[in-house]
Amino acid sequence: MAGLFPKWTNALPTVTAMLVLGGLVTTVAGVWYYFTPKFWEVGYMPAQPGSGFNHQLHAGKLGIDCRYCHTKIEESPEANIPNVATCMGCHAENRLDTKFVKDAKVQFIRDAYAKNASIEWRRVHKLPDYVRNFPHHVHLKAGVSCYSCHGQIMGMPEVYQAQSLSMGWCLECHRNPEQHLVPPEDVTKLTWVEQELKDRASGRSSVDVEALVASLRREPPQYCGACHH
Ligand code: HEC
Ligand code: HEC
Ligand code: HEC
Ligand code: HEC
Ligand code: HEC
Repeated sequence: MAGLFPKWTNALPTVTAMLVLGGLVTTVAGVWYYFTPKFWEVGYMPAQPGSGFNHQLHAGKLGIDCRYCHTKIEESPEANIPNVATCMGCHAENRLDTKFVKDAKVQFIRDAYAKNASIEWRRVHKLPDYVRNFPHHVHLKAGVSCYSCHGQIMGMPEVYQAQSLSMGWCLECHRNPEQHLVPPEDVTKLTWVEQELKDRASGRSSVDVEALVASLRREPPQYCGACHH
C-alpha cells in the first residue's frame, strides 16, 4: 500500500489546523486592536517613522509656530500634517550646520523627498467614524487653544494623546467654555495659555473672559445631531 498517499500528507491535518488557527488568531488580534479603547486612550503614542518628529525641539526650543506646518488649521474642518517639502525647507543637504543636526538623523526625510514619497506618520488623535462633525477650525476661531485639547505639545519630544476625546469630555467644555477660551490670536502660544489657564483656575486671570464668551458665534451645541448628524 505504500505510495498510495505520499508521506507528507500525514502532516496535512495538522497543517490545516494550524492555518485555520493562524487565521483565527489574526482576526482576533485585528478586532482586538480596533475595539480595545487603547487606540482611543490617553497616553496613546504610536512609534513614528525614521527619527520621528520632535515638537519639543521644533515648536518649543526653536519656537516655530504651529501654523508654519499645520497650515490649514484655521480654515479647514480637518487639521493637516505638513508634507516633506516643508521639512526640506530646512533639512535639504547643506542648509543647516551639521554641528546642530546630524545628516544621519534626517536622511529619512531626504530619501522620501528624492522618491517623491510621503512620510507615513502614524495618526495619534482619531475620533470614531460615528462622530460625524468635529470642525477643528471653528474651535480655533472661537479661541480654544491646541493646549486645551492636545496638551503641552511644546514639551513633547513625541506627541501622545493627552485628553480622552470622549463624549463627556466634549460636553464638559461645551457646558463651561469660559474655563478654556483665550483670545483667538493667542491659541498657538501654548506656554502662555498653560500659565493663563492655571491662573484662571485660581482666580487670577489676565484676560477679559466674559467678553470672549460674549463674542462666540453661538453657544457650543449639546444636542445629539450637532456631532452625530
Ligand atoms: C516643523 C513642523 C511642525 C510644527 C512647527 C508643528 N508641528 Fe505638529 N506635527 C508635525 C508633524 C510632521 C506631525 C506628524 C508626526 C507626529 O505625530 O509626531 C505633527 C503632529 C502633530 C499632532 C498629532 C497629530 C495626530 O496624528 O493626531 C498634533 C496634535 C500637533 N502636531 C500639534 C502641533 C502644535 C500644537 C504645534 C505648535 C505648538 C505644532 N504641532 C507645531 C509638524 C509640525
Ligand atoms: C524652520 C526650520 C526647520 C523645519 C521646517 C524643520 N526642521 Fe527639523 N530641525 C531644525 C533644526 C535647526 C534642528 C536641529 C536643532 C537642535 O538640535 O538644536 C532640527 C532637527 C531635526 C531632527 C534631528 C533632531 C532629533 O533628534 O529629533 C529631525 C529628525 C528633524 N529635525 C525632523 C524634521 C521633520 C520631519 C520636519 C518636517 C515635518 C522638520 N524637521 C522641519 C529645523 C527645522
Ligand atoms: C477643541 C479641541 C481641539 C483643538 C482646540 C485643537 N484640536 Fe487638533 N484635534 C482635535 C481632535 C478631536 C482631533 C481628531 C479629529 C478627528 O479624528 O477627526 C484633532 C486632530 C488634529 C491633528 C491630526 C490631523 C490628521 O489628519 O492627522 C492635528 C495635526 C491637530 N489636531 C493639530 C492641532 C493644532 C496645531 C491645534 C492648535 C492650533 C489644534 N489641533 C487644536 C481636537 C482639537
Ligand atoms: C475646550 C473646549 C471645547 C472642547 C473640548 C470641544 N469643543 Fe466643540 N466647541 C467649543 C466652543 C467654544 C464652540 C462654539 C464655537 C462658536 O460657535 O463660536 C464649539 C462648537 C462646536 C460645534 C459647532 C460648530 C459650528 O459650526 O457651530 C461642534 C459640532 C463641536 N463643537 C463639536 C465638538 C466635538 C465633537 C468635540 C469633542 C471631540 C468638541 N467639540 C470638543 C469648545 C470645545
Ligand atoms: C459635542 C459633541 C457631541 C454631542 C453633542 C453628542 N455626542 Fe455622542 N459622542 C461624541 C463623541 C466624541 C463620541 C465618541 C466617544 C469615544 O470615542 O469614547 C460619542 C459617542 C457616542 C455614543 C457611543 C457610545 C459611547 O458613549 O461612547 C453614543 C451612543 C452617543 N454618542 C450618543 C449621543 C446622543 C444620544 C447624544 C445626544 C443626547 C449625543 N451623543 C451628543 C460627541 C457628541
